[in-house]
Amino acid sequence: MHPLAQRLHDDHRRLTQVLGVLEAQIDHLARAEEIDFDLMLDAMTYITEFPNRLHHPVEDVLFARLAAIDPTASDACLTQIAEHERLFHDSAAFYALLEAVQMDEATLMRDRLADAGREFIAAQRAHLLREERELLPRAEQRLDSAQWDLAAQTASAVRDPLDGTATPARYQSLYQAICPLR
Ligand SMILES: [Fe+2]
Ligand SMILES: [Fe+2]
Repeated sequence: MHPLAQRLHDDHRRLTQVLGVLEAQIDHLARAEEIDFDLMLDAMTYITEFPNRLHHPVEDVLFARLAAIDPTASDACLTQIAEHERLFHDSAAFYALLEAVQMDEATLMRDRLADAGREFIAAQRAHLLREERELLPRAEQRLDSAQWDLAAQTASAVRDPLDGTATPARYQSLYQAICPLR
């Protein structure tokens, strides 16, 4: 497997773990239990900084190349690229809602937050699943290693703080929350 393909799969695994942390908090919220707003804000900051800024741009390059050489995958690739833009806006909107509810915990806002959280998590998971099941296997099948290399060259060298190679200075509680899930 090309190292970039491995990196994208690893990114998906970590994002899935972070979504699990977020979902556990949404479950607490739906049962009218206490929730850890700081942990949720950390999860959303992580999603904004890493998948949105570092992972999606590389996939955009990869899927554009796949679309160019494989007409049968072209629609799915272009839809996925467009969805990256939508997920970025969804993340910002959910973050803003989370902050608003933290400031003013009215019941109505908590209900809205639970609904929005479930919607957000479901959209992220559907997106990941499409890549894991369809698009990455297809890219691995159809793109040669030179094409993967080209996409890899666009990847930023910034390391994901949750990759387990060092204790993260930031995201400590988020890291601890995903550790039992590893
Ligand atoms: Fe993606
Ligand atoms: Fe992805």
